[in-house]
Amino acid sequence: MPVLQIEPSETDGTETPEYEEVSIPVLVVGAGAAGARTAIELAENGVDCLVVGKRDHGDAHTTWAAGGINAALGSLDPEDDWTVHAADTHREGHSVNDPDAVELVARNAPARVRELDEWGTGFDRTEDGKIDQRYFGAQSFRRTCFVGDRTGEAILSALVDRARELEIPYRENVMVTRLLSDDGRVYGAAGYDMSDGSFVLFRAARVVVAAGGYSALYNRHTSEADENTGDGPALAYDAGANLLDAEFVQFHPTGTVARDAWDDDWEGQLVTEAVRGEGGRLYNAAVDEPDADGAPDDPRARLGDRFMERYSPTQMELDARDVVARAIAREIREGRGTERGGVYLDVSHRDRAFIEARLPRMYERFAALGVDIAEEPMEVAPTAHYSMGGVDVDPRTGRTAVDGLYAVGESASGLHGANRLGGNSLVETVVFGQLVGDHLAATLDGASPELPEGMRAFAEGEFRALLALERADGDVRPAELFGALGDLLWRHAGILRDADGLDAGLGALDALRDRAAALRVEGDRTDRDFEFAVDLSFTFAVAEAILRAASFRTESRGAHHRTDFPDEDDDWRVTVVVSPGEDGPELRTRPVGEPGEAVRAALDEGYELEYAHLE
Ligand code: FUM
Repeated sequence: MPVLQIEPSETDGTETPEYEEVSIPVLVVGAGAAGARTAIELAENGVDCLVVGKRDHGDAHTTWAAGGINAALGSLDPEDDWTVHAADTHREGHSVNDPDAVELVARNAPARVRELDEWGTGFDRTEDGKIDQRYFGAQSFRRTCFVGDRTGEAILSALVDRARELEIPYRENVMVTRLLSDDGRVYGAAGYDMSDGSFVLFRAARVVVAAGGYSALYNRHTSEADENTGDGPALAYDAGANLLDAEFVQFHPTGTVARDAWDDDWEGQLVTEAVRGEGGRLYNAAVDEPDADGAPDDPRARLGDRFMERYSPTQMELDARDVVARAIAREIREGRGTERGGVYLDVSHRDRAFIEARLPRMYERFAALGVDIAEEPMEVAPTAHYSMGGVDVDPRTGRTAVDGLYAVGESASGLHGANRLGGNSLVETVVFGQLVGDHLAATLDGASPELPEGMRAFAEGEFRALLALERADGDVRPAELFGALGDLLWRHAGILRDADGLDAGLGALDALRDRAAALRVEGDRTDRDFEFAVDLSFTFAVAEAILRAASFRTESRGAHHRTDFPDEDDDWRVTVVVSPGEDGPELRTRPVGEPGEAVRAALDEGYELEYAHLE
């Protein structure tokens, strides 16, 4: 990643700082579930690896996939099998998914979930001891396995315990800022330790990017502010890998709408789909809504129409995420939302004991915010949650177009197509993590990683560029630009898009880049300001890929909705590849394959969720 405008070659005169050098066969960048599962597979096969992450072990975006993980176990619905899981994934992805990726996930999910169970995830059980399963959006059967509504957290904790058992080394608070690559091959990475500011050069025979996606580039998003800022895709793209499906960003229908009295940190945070999977209903605001700040005798008096009856009478609140998110956005836009710009999500028709057992986190969190969800509705609105796009990989191995460089989890793309099925993000981390680890273990030749001539100088140039960034003394603060970028993407590449808006977004992005030349970084390399500045340098390439790909795709498909091209167009049943070119991003389309026979048969069968089961 070029550190903002400062290219290593422009740092003549800046002293080369001291740095630590680490040599390791496999470097895993990112410590969520995908990185952890990859490392576990490597360790179980006797391959040394090092996992580096920006934060503490066990603290990653994985924890924000709360409601569950998909696997066709058939605990409650024996008709379910992997072919129906695959068919649901294709239908939700609007047929631009990579069929190999879909088949790998659907077939391997049951084994990976049972393994997580053995490693102590503690899935909820049915009365007869099976792993319990719930409905999730657009799934034909109860397929989503869960630990209350803290599934991602429980899975990551089991993976971290397993990694510790295997004594896999983990370096926390390390930010990789650039991959060391030349001539289509990667040799390692350069970065710094965020706790003491020291520089580190990693020599590695293979680098696995498992650093998440880019949903936090939007100013309203479900993750924490310092994760999912595009590091993974940006690092790989800078090293020469291609990005795929960048235009497909998932807006989760239900993010928290903060009340005045609430901490703003809650704004946009996930209200899990499990609430709807357990029967939660969406309502617009009653026309004569009582003052929401007051305490009406009956909080349900605030509820207006159950508007999903108009948008999706058969699948209701559990239709695909893009459908529900657009419906909510429309209700709000057309003046049927709450004063604070949300709608209501109500689960108070369920028993308190049921809510406490099935949705414990939501119950506790809203109680802390002064809302008893067993008695009153939550206020919600769409929020950026997940990037379907990412690094273009071979799903069987995680290989990218750059030798030695791999990507896995949300950093990679292909599985989800135009829209992700809820519950498929957790399962992709463990399915592909295992496959990538297995492939690396089978193909590593044991030779110690070497740095070819020039690569050390390249890394030292990066350290000098980081030093120059730390000393940047202009007048624009990184956080200000970060906020401006979030607004830009929300406005120009949000739930609804059109050509004029996307063009304007690209123009505004250029202006932001220009402003970044006058950055001011306060404090030193251990400060948040410096981290923001480094994050910013990842964001521009990814934001440009989103805007350009969204402008290029002149149709609507899944999460990409163009008001000027509102229909799906068969000619666009292709993926959009963004490649790093000499003069900037180059875009082209690539055909997608056809699902195999078994999955085709399940698609033809026309399975779909029967909402009546939830009433
Ligand atoms: O709503 C949720 O709990 C999110 C799950 C997911 O994104 O898979």
